[in-house]
Amino acid sequence: MVYDRKVQEYAGKIAGECGVTASLGIDAGEAGKNLETVAGICRFLMSCGADRDALLLAVGGGTVTDVAGLAAALYKRGISVAFVPTTLLSMVDAAYGGKNGVNLDCYKNMVGTFLQPEFVYRDISCLATLPRREFLSGAAELLKTFLIGDASLYAEAVDVLSRPDIDWRHLDELVGQAVAIKLRIVNADPYDNGERHKLNLGHTFAHAIEWYEHQRGVECPLTHGEAVAIGIIQSASLCNESLAGRLRFDFRACGLPVDLPYPLDELMPAMENDKKNGEGEIRFVLIHDIADITY
Ligand code: GLY
Repeated sequence: MVYDRKVQEYAGKIAGECGVTASLGIDAGEAGKNLETVAGICRFLMSCGADRDALLLAVGGGTVTDVAGLAAALYKRGISVAFVPTTLLSMVDAAYGGKNGVNLDCYKNMVGTFLQPEFVYRDISCLATLPRREFLSGAAELLKTFLIGDASLYAEAVDVLSRPDIDWRHLDELVGQAVAIKLRIVNADPYDNGERHKLNLGHTFAHAIEWYEHQRGVECPLTHGEAVAIGIIQSASLCNESLAGRLRFDFRACGLPVDLPYPLDELMPAMENDKKNGEGEIRFVLIHDIADITY
């Protein structure tokens, strides 16, 4: 098992229940989402004598599932992986769909592969202690998924997320529905050659903002989901100002940022290097209306 040190106690409980034979704590977060961490996990697997029928269980948020997924895909040319996501972002997005990856020289997810998890175990009670901004980060991905796939679930999610007290049971249902939408898209296009691009709504701007903040050493950077929320508004502004206005209102009500925090021309170098690009053009996923997305 590989787990985020921040959830050591919870990971210990899971390890006991699953009969885990060896475990490695790592520090989650973008700073450790690199090939060195992947090498560390592979060394850990070697030290355990893990062979090709081993299963690597990852407990933590998106950066943990991303590095563990890549290590599992590479170790001895591939072993099985399974996830216990502990953040809203990983419950909605990162743990599902088989994408893994690490950053390279400040560029997000530049090295990675596809490996579908054997299973994902979701326990919404983990979220009760999640820091507010981490929760909001996942909330943005939840809203993104409904903006891609279902207008009435989008409105329902805004209602749940904008209340001062979260209805956890209702949120759990919504997360399950978002996962179903994501998996429908992934099953139609597992290797991200077309339809799956829709899941990158807001991400061209988001990755550029994250790259910019990393380059500048910004002290209190936006979370991934906060950057995605801003990116979705930017994308909507490109084709439907009235939709952009509605999304601004909704996202603010949920506690998400909506304004581009840096001049567009300073974000351009990162957008030009985005791995979604092709044929020398920057590729955006556009939202014309809810559930009307082009790429
Ligand atoms: N997070 C986007 C995807 O899984 O394709």
